[in-house]
Amino acid sequence: MTERTFIAIKPDGVKRNLIGRIITRFEEKGYKIIGLKLLLPTIEHAEKHYAEHKGKPFYPRLIKYITSGPIVAMVIEGPNVIAESRKMMGATKPENADAGTIRFEYAVSQEFNIIHGSDSPQSAEREIAIYFKEDEICSNWTTMLEMLMNEEQKSL
Ligand code: RTP
Ligand code: MG
Repeated sequence: MTERTFIAIKPDGVKRNLIGRIITRFEEKGYKIIGLKLLLPTIEHAEKHYAEHKGKPFYPRLIKYITSGPIVAMVIEGPNVIAESRKMMGATKPENADAGTIRFEYAVSQEFNIIHGSDSPQSAEREIAIYFKEDEICSNWTTMLEMLMNEEQKSL
């Protein structure tokens, strides 16, 4: 099923010049990037985004971390992209992340782990609305992969 998810390259990923490498993974997989911007999250953005963690011991540090520099906020569309992009990211703790995942490849800390991705359709919808206005999402175009797949399907 085609879904949309919210992905963010966290401030440590931006500061380490990993923007291109991380975006490339989603492009190469074949997903469609339909929203993309660099922004400095406000405390309000961060508190809304991570509301589920309010009250946990790591919450104050998490808010400081996410507001410590710009993030790259993205809306990415594709089949089962919510669960699949979580697989591409790897486990929260990089030491538990499978080899080849983004967190395995680029992170060593559970706290500073480079990337965020929505964990359910409800989170995706909620998080996209925190960072993007409807007119900032650009989905009415066709990727090369979609063109190819449409052509292939016609000939089956
Ligand atoms: P995210 O929401 O950022 O995609 O990460 P996640 O689902 O893999 O992990 P989650 O449990 O939602 O935690 C959110 C973020 O909080 C920081 N964290 N620090 N010090 C700690 O024990 C701790 N635990 C989590 C991480 O930045 C984590 O990604
Ligand atoms: Mg999470």
